[in-house]
Amino acid sequence: MKKENLLMCRPTYFDVVYEINPWMDVDNRPDKQLALEQWERLRQTYLDLGAEVELVEPVPDQPDMVFTANAGLVLGKKFIPSRFKFDERKGEEPAFRRWFADRGYEVLDLPEGMSFEGEADRILRHGKILVANGFRSDPVVAYEVGRMLGVDILRIRLVNPKFYHLDTCLAYFEEGDTVLYYPGAFDEESREKIKKEFPRVIEADIDEAERYVCNCINVGTTIVMNKNCPKAQAALEKMGYQIVTLDMSEYLKSGGSIKCLTLRLD
Ligand code: ARG
Repeated sequence: MKKENLLMCRPTYFDVVYEINPWMDVDNRPDKQLALEQWERLRQTYLDLGAEVELVEPVPDQPDMVFTANAGLVLGKKFIPSRFKFDERKGEEPAFRRWFADRGYEVLDLPEGMSFEGEADRILRHGKILVANGFRSDPVVAYEVGRMLGVDILRIRLVNPKFYHLDTCLAYFEEGDTVLYYPGAFDEESREKIKKEFPRVIEADIDEAERYVCNCINVGTTIVMNKNCPKAQAALEKMGYQIVTLDMSEYLKSGGSIKCLTLRLD
């Protein structure tokens, strides 16, 4: 089994002090101590599963930097930095760029004026990249990424504001070539594309989707997912996966969870 290499960022400055998605409410801020414990437990889970976890230094006044899936898109030793849609997060860009440049990644820039929020809006499968647009990433980005990396692109569209990043409503497990997704987050054409592209598809229902069941990640054949999602859990176990569940309540208040807190370095 290949060793997973993951990037995380300590929640030192994590908070909800602005509202840029429907989950965020400045009157319902996270408990800092609990958030730190939940993050530590997630990191320890990855380590226990044999993954390597690298850390990027958090930047003051960037409360969402903890969501490293938004750093950019990594493919081998190439890195396309995100261009955040909202000004509130643009201050993260230089720190992520520096982290990758310092480690010898070739940093490739998207043309100015495009918004793109990284791995959160893309899935890689057999050398083909699935890019989602609708909320945070512009439609043209898909073509641009394809051109820059010389890979095939499948473009899909998000339509439900509660699921504003692809990783909030679709998870892909390379191990077993399986997708877990919430159909209600996509337009008709995208749902068809997903069913055609992936041989094994599990559909999450609205209740579990709203508990961010799809914001999960696999380390080998183990899937780390939010607690209280018994239906998806049973379906995945039937396919041979092992499940570890975690309580990520404080991050849900920001519209994020397990996958958002993690970037794959491959
Ligand atoms: N509060 C953050 C935002 O709205 C949450 C980011 C979630 N990240 C993700 N990969 N889906 O940008």
